[in-house]
Amino acid sequence: MRGKDYMAVLNAMTEVMGEAIHIVDAYGKTILYNEAMAQLEKISVEDALGKSFRQVFGSIPEAESTLYQALVNRREIRSKQQTYLNIYGKQVTTINTTIPIIVDDRVVAAMEVARDITEIKDMSDRIMSLQDSISAESRHEIPAEEMEALKRSSGIRRYHFSDIIGEDPKFLQAVERAQKASSNTASVFIYGETGTGKELFAQSIHYGGKRHKKPFLAQNCAAIPESLLEGILFGTEKGGFTGAVDRAGLFEQASGGTLLLDEVSAMPYELQSKLLRVLQEKYIRRVGGSKDILVDVRIIATVNESPQELIERGALRPDLYYRLNVIGINIPPLRERRSDIPILADRFVKKYNEEYGREIWMIADAALEKLKNYDYPGNVRELENIIMSAVSLAEEDHVLTADDISIQQGYHESSSDISGYRREEGSLAEYLADIEQTVIRRYLTANGGNVSKTAKDLGMLRQNLQHKLKKYEIL
Ligand SMILES: Nc1ncnc2c1ncn2[C@@H]1O[C@H](COP(=O)(O)OP(=O)(O)OP(=O)(O)O)[C@@H](O)[C@H]1O
Ligand SMILES: [Mg+2]
Repeated sequence: MRGKDYMAVLNAMTEVMGEAIHIVDAYGKTILYNEAMAQLEKISVEDALGKSFRQVFGSIPEAESTLYQALVNRREIRSKQQTYLNIYGKQVTTINTTIPIIVDDRVVAAMEVARDITEIKDMSDRIMSLQDSISAESRHEIPAEEMEALKRSSGIRRYHFSDIIGEDPKFLQAVERAQKASSNTASVFIYGETGTGKELFAQSIHYGGKRHKKPFLAQNCAAIPESLLEGILFGTEKGGFTGAVDRAGLFEQASGGTLLLDEVSAMPYELQSKLLRVLQEKYIRRVGGSKDILVDVRIIATVNESPQELIERGALRPDLYYRLNVIGINIPPLRERRSDIPILADRFVKKYNEEYGREIWMIADAALEKLKNYDYPGNVRELENIIMSAVSLAEEDHVLTADDISIQQGYHESSSDISGYRREEGSLAEYLADIEQTVIRRYLTANGGNVSKTAKDLGMLRQNLQHKLKKYEIL
């Protein structure tokens, strides 16, 4: 095959793969610049091809050019996040890998592969500023009135122990442990299926303890791609990557308070060991920073699958688990404490009476039987949703009948949670779930439905992604 033909094959290959690729020869002349890269950098393929690096990117100092570094210093840079302005002044964030191509100990070319994560970065920035405002509230930096309005509009709730309903002995054991936890600051590890009340427990522990005036912040570890999660948790420092700003991470923002790490098993394995180190040493270092910063944060971590299984399949580091599990709380699923269904249903009827201006006084026996016989894969949240729609649609004025209770088999918690809510009204958890879903869909589409590749791109285990796909009914 001639050189030209090889190039055509290479070009076709990179287009199919969908990655943005830029290859320069040993003299820094661009020999491959594909459409995806052209889209990203807003430089046309024709303008880039055949030109020397300097001609195309005159404004970037050589020392800062990763391609130049690869070519001249044989420096290999993998998965580095970069934020820069493209020629239209639009801020673009990419994850780049740049490698020298070496043949017989000569550098014959350098290749850069980039992935555009601008939208994900924007979303994570929005989460960060939302979190900022929550912790600013705890530091009383936002006037109370303004904060109330903000909270009303964002639907952020605060739970206390008095909000926890249940009398089942196993359930009460969990509550008791949580109450003990609220009197100290040891790490807490909560295991409970989706909708069993992990957030409810975590907030009750925080707001029921000495730290209640300090921030309570939450981060779902499955919602954010690997490359951004570290910055969100530990903060970033100028120079960490081009365009990075100095920003405190959640650990600093939650100082003196509590940080809830939801779905901690979705955190990349390597980051889990960093987290472990932070918990042991109590110092964090911002991404790209060199200073050690002392932090005092209580950690509550949650998982929605059995920790033993998560450890066995390599999703959760055992050493991190033992460190977090100082106080272990196991919230039993609703189907294992069916005796709690009537009191929970009662409470939810009262709640939605008020909300919808209805006057349901009782639940008919047949309706209660129907409620007690269902398995609730979505646990308490699902029961609450069932009662909510029953109350709003009830035919009669004072009695909830079996006909009012509509149980959907094959229910998925998020489908009903998300479809009908307006973003401004959702809780932070719902907001995050929405983002999570958007990010997953986008990546999956970009990867032509390839689950393994999408999981890799998102920095999560395939099984975890599969779990999410099911949860959001994506595939
Ligand atoms: N024991 C309970 N008493 C009263 N309400 C409850 C109880 N358990 C859960 N709920 C309600 O169910 C809903 C789901 O609870 P929560 O968000 O705490 O669950 P979760 O375990 O964090 O779920 P996920 O795994 O999906 O994040 C909330 O509206 C919460 O108020
Ligand atoms: Mg939760």
